Amino acid sequence: MLIDTHCHLYDEAFQPDFEAVLARAREAGMEACVMPGIDRSSHDALLAVADALPDFAFPCIGLHPTSVGETWQEELDFVKAHLGDRRWYAVGEIGLDEYWSKDFVKEQIRVLEEQVVLAAEADLPVIIHLREATDDFFRVLADLRGVSFRGVMHAWSGSYETCRRLLALGDFRFGIGGVVTYKNAGVAKAMEKMSLQDILLETDCPWLTPVPFRGKRNEPSYVRLVAEKIAQIKQIPLEEVATATTSNARALFKL
Ligand code: NI
Repeated sequence: MLIDTHCHLYDEAFQPDFEAVLARAREAGMEACVMPGIDRSSHDALLAVADALPDFAFPCIGLHPTSVGETWQEELDFVKAHLGDRRWYAVGEIGLDEYWSKDFVKEQIRVLEEQVVLAAEADLPVIIHLREATDDFFRVLADLRGVSFRGVMHAWSGSYETCRRLLALGDFRFGIGGVVTYKNAGVAKAMEKMSLQDILLETDCPWLTPVPFRGKRNEPSYVRLVAEKIAQIKQIPLEEVATATTSNARALFKL
């Protein structure tokens, strides 16, 4: 059985054929998914799916770095106000993204740090989105020394060396998705050395579609293609990848 630890199942891309998407996910062996939040605009849609599929789709709350703009304070207050509403499975996705924009980097850093502290206080893992901001992220980790938190580096595409550096600083897992199937992907090389104990499967659907469907909509069932690719790289049976990553996901998110 497989767990997709980063699944935007509530995205409008899945509205037209939601039931079929779900059927294919179950058929592919998917037994659960973790749904990261983004901001206020998708909060209700996320909860609607979580309530409709209570044993399958596990909700998270967080403010995504690309949603940190003029209204960042209201957005952050919204997370704080709703953290006690119900059982959440992570604070995320949160992080730094200097690829889309550098206009609010200072605010992104502050919002990230506050949310990591919130997660630590609530004993929830964090889901970290990091894009072209590795140096700033290491500065954040230095600022947060003494805060005890655990989490996943989502859509991991870094080197084995960066992976080791992070493991030395914190309780991290690495979310492996469609990128591992791309030609010449650095993460495929890193995967040869990474321990199965440190990785989780994810799709980030509807984005980051794996080969051979790259360019089309991504969907939860494709988590199996990611697992198959990892098995191929590490030359181990698919079952071994499934068993390890599922147990890693259950332990991290307390599913
Ligand atoms: Ni995402």
